[in-house]
Amino acid sequence: MDPLKEWLGRQDGGLVLDVATGRGYSASLLAESLNCYRNIFGIDISMENLCQAQKGIKDKRIILLGMRAESMGFADGTFDTVAVINSLHHLQYVEESLAEMKRVLKPNGNFIIFEMVQDGLNEKQISHREAHHWWGAVDRQNSIFHRETFRNDELRGMVGRLGLSKVEFINFNEETEIDSKEVINNIEKTIDLYIEKIPENIGRQPLIDKGLKLKERFHEVGFAWATILIAIGTK
Ligand SMILES: C[S@@+](CC[C@H](N)C(=O)[O-])C[C@H]1O[C@@H](n2cnc3c(N)ncnc32)[C@H](O)[C@@H]1O
Repeated sequence: MDPLKEWLGRQDGGLVLDVATGRGYSASLLAESLNCYRNIFGIDISMENLCQAQKGIKDKRIILLGMRAESMGFADGTFDTVAVINSLHHLQYVEESLAEMKRVLKPNGNFIIFEMVQDGLNEKQISHREAHHWWGAVDRQNSIFHRETFRNDELRGMVGRLGLSKVEFINFNEETEIDSKEVINNIEKTIDLYIEKIPENIGRQPLIDKGLKLKERFHEVGFAWATILIAIGTK
């Protein structure tokens, strides 16, 4: 997260929107990293995730709302900063959602995308990508929209089509947690939790087997976080 944190540390966020805020990680990251801000609105379609987020958020300036990214109830030009962090590949109507983010951003406001990519990865990073794609497959079995992660060029293309100005792209590799026992342990626990979520159907056993193989892979090949593409532009 470092290049984004560094950049945020130099910004007055003003009125901030965090799209697909989930369980509160990204809203808290914005709150902790921005030099200052007025309010952070976190929106998400999952009330379960918002309830979970609410439990961990103590700052009254962070406001959580149930809202779809592709059809927001905010007026044009409401926010000084809009961000979508770790969430783009979870959005079914991704280009519509990005267009909505631009619509609700003020002229000269900052637009932030933080998203892992699926290409140009080394073998250890492929462990992360494959785990992520496997989680996506389990979510889809449960009718939760979760596509495979985007390629670098797909993301850059989407940002290009938004017509922002002063766009800066940063490809970022987290180097500090390669083969971290703690990280691998947590990822394995998530795999186990997801195995329990796989519904009883014909595809269940192959999906379980793939999850178990992934756990073996973390020890045989290793594990590193996939490359993140950070895109920052101005409306
Ligand atoms: C990986 S999670 C949350 C990521 C979060 N920003 C973070 O950094 O921890 C992705 C979130 O996208 C939400 N989501 C999926 N489709 C959405 C939509 N159309 N509008 C808003 N949120 C959506 C999901 O409910 C989920 O909470």
